[in-house]
Amino acid sequence: MYKEVQRFLGQSWTDFQRCFAESLQTDIPLLEKVNRFILEHGGKKLRPTFTLLTAQALTGACDERVVSCAAASELLHTATLLHDDVADDALTRRGVPTVMALYSPSTAVLVGDFWLSRAMDLIIDHPDKRVLHIFSKCLGDLARGEMLQLERAGKGDTSEADYRQIIYCKTTSLFEAAVVSAAHSVGAGETETETFRTYARHIGQAFQMMDDILDYSPELSIGKPTGQDIMEKKITLPLLCLFRKVPAAVERRLRRRMKNPDAALVEEIFSLVRQYDALAEARGVLEEEIRQAVDALAPVPASEAKEYLIKLAGLMAVRTA
Ligand code: IPE
Ligand code: IPE
Ligand code: MG
Ligand code: MG
Repeated sequence: MYKEVQRFLGQSWTDFQRCFAESLQTDIPLLEKVNRFILEHGGKKLRPTFTLLTAQALTGACDERVVSCAAASELLHTATLLHDDVADDALTRRGVPTVMALYSPSTAVLVGDFWLSRAMDLIIDHPDKRVLHIFSKCLGDLARGEMLQLERAGKGDTSEADYRQIIYCKTTSLFEAAVVSAAHSVGAGETETETFRTYARHIGQAFQMMDDILDYSPELSIGKPTGQDIMEKKITLPLLCLFRKVPAAVERRLRRRMKNPDAALVEEIFSLVRQYDALAEARGVLEEEIRQAVDALAPVPASEAKEYLIKLAGLMAVRTA
């Protein structure tokens, strides 16, 4: 599916890839080596896909400004992954060792900073200052989201509202920036921009919800280990859905145990999740986000790009990568 959309995007996808790779040129051999490693093991490149599709759906084309926003989104995303893997002490990503495991945490932080600076370079001269503003807000949200998650992690009291705020900040804000920057780049009106912002907000939430479901799905191969969220003291959607179903005393005990998780707790929670079918409940919540994302697109005129935006929304519920 991802490849099919990239083929549809054609020249604008090629332009994005060129812009993305060119931004990373450097005269420091170690930086160059790490950059090459990351590029060779690239991810799905979902955020730039949404940027380019949004511009296509609005105007039928993507100019250099849109391409720059697409590249900035992927650069920023990769930078946050480099930093996130240090924060989470994660050893595997995209089916290969993380930069922090292969090189060092300092390398991952510094390379992440470099990628961040490249992202900013691409948008700093954008004629619409709202673009700079939305990416800068997103950077702040990413840090706030990770900090809120960290704060909640030690307490074991994450509520569904906290969870939604955390995932909005740490993940959805970047989907929003990727999509809204495209709308600004093509000079979309306020109503059109809000339509796409609403779409992005639901897609982003759905995307992170699926990531959190995948962390509870060891039978699906996703290129990163499962059961990590419990070990990282993160109370995410599957566990919140389990709390909806178990007796209050069990919820209290599990919340207490989440302050000091171990392998036995992962096993116990996974088994309760199966027993109470909490993943089906979680999928229900995720599907509601997808429904709202698709509904948001109702006023957008029919086009192939719009069809792909709808198809990608559906993919959020079934993806395994
Ligand atoms: C992973 O994002 C981080 C989250 C926000 C869950 P992706 O799953 O889009 O990562 P890659 O780039 O495709 O590896
Ligand atoms: C998303 O959260 C991280 C970022 C926004 C960078 P996770 O910690 O769940 O992401 P993964 O699972 O490590 O990819
Ligand atoms: Mg992580
Ligand atoms: Mg995760």
